[in-house]
Amino acid sequence: MNKKELVDALSPDTDPAPLFALADKIRREQVGDGVHLRGLIEFSNHCRRRCYYCGIRAANAKVRRYRLTPEQILDCARTAVSLNYKSVVMQSGEDLHWNPKELASVVEKIKTTTSLAITLSVGEHSKEDYTTLRSAGADRFLLRFETSDRRLFSMLKPDSNYDQRFRCLAWLKEAGFQVGSGVMAGLPGQTAASMADDILLFKELDLDMVGIGPFIANPDTPLGAAPNGSLDTALRMVALTRIVTRNTHIPATTAMGTLHPQGRQKALKCGANVLMPNISPTEHRTDYSLYPGKICVNEAPEQCAGCVDAMLAGLGRQRAEGFGHSLKQV
Ligand code: 5AD
Ligand code: FES
Repeated sequence: MNKKELVDALSPDTDPAPLFALADKIRREQVGDGVHLRGLIEFSNHCRRRCYYCGIRAANAKVRRYRLTPEQILDCARTAVSLNYKSVVMQSGEDLHWNPKELASVVEKIKTTTSLAITLSVGEHSKEDYTTLRSAGADRFLLRFETSDRRLFSMLKPDSNYDQRFRCLAWLKEAGFQVGSGVMAGLPGQTAASMADDILLFKELDLDMVGIGPFIANPDTPLGAAPNGSLDTALRMVALTRIVTRNTHIPATTAMGTLHPQGRQKALKCGANVLMPNISPTEHRTDYSLYPGKICVNEAPEQCAGCVDAMLAGLGRQRAEGFGHSLKQV
């Protein structure tokens, strides 16, 4: 699809039904009916940055900051194993306390004591640090570029540099990670043209994974009064991303489930093939609030596992076999 076709497909005036049906068909052909479950460990909510949309930004004094110990992270990984998840995502704010060597040693411990695939989502680092983490055994890395619109990016991420973000994505690839990126849909000032560019960029970057969620205004941030993104637009983005990128892994995101009780189910029906059930300790979940109303904060890991299995059964889908590695490398 070219840019004009993407812009048209994103327009609320276009009936999304044929688009969703096509994306669902391509999803089935390219990645099958299996849904990969990645257990999400939110291991620190400390962050040095002040992104305008994000609830755990450094300037938000209301946040009760926490940091799991290596032993607690290992416990989460063991929980993932007991729930028969094949991979975990270790996510945190850009927490300077965790130097990459320490993080690498936690990764190494998980890799030597379990068969889990590990995804890191820990922000921008040097090329050397990415290589250290990859050598420790981390398989994948998620770093959303958030928006392809350079001006919007600088406005939303005052401490970050647009070009540096993409340099990091290139370094991650060079270090041998399976690389995921993504964006928020419905950011203030974001146009259909820029969302079309996001999708074309997913393709150009030849990503292994693409995560998309609606923007949800957090009252404790500078964008607190902005309108939320719409689920419809986010779903169109998922469908178009499936159509354009073919065999990437695309999650039905928590933000979609937050905007609508059937949000994740809808995403699984228009292109998504991954779920990321939370396995963080329940006592800290409310403190990892990037946006308000986040689902699963009162649940325990076992409850989310039961919930997602029921969700899959309701959709006539099942857990995928295997680790869910990139399909680009086979
Ligand atoms: N609304 C929706 N998504 C958000 N994220 C951060 N803050 C928000 C928000 N207010 C997303 C970003 C980030 C991911 C971990 O969560 O895209 O990369
Ligand atoms: Fe956590 Fe549904 S996935 S309660």
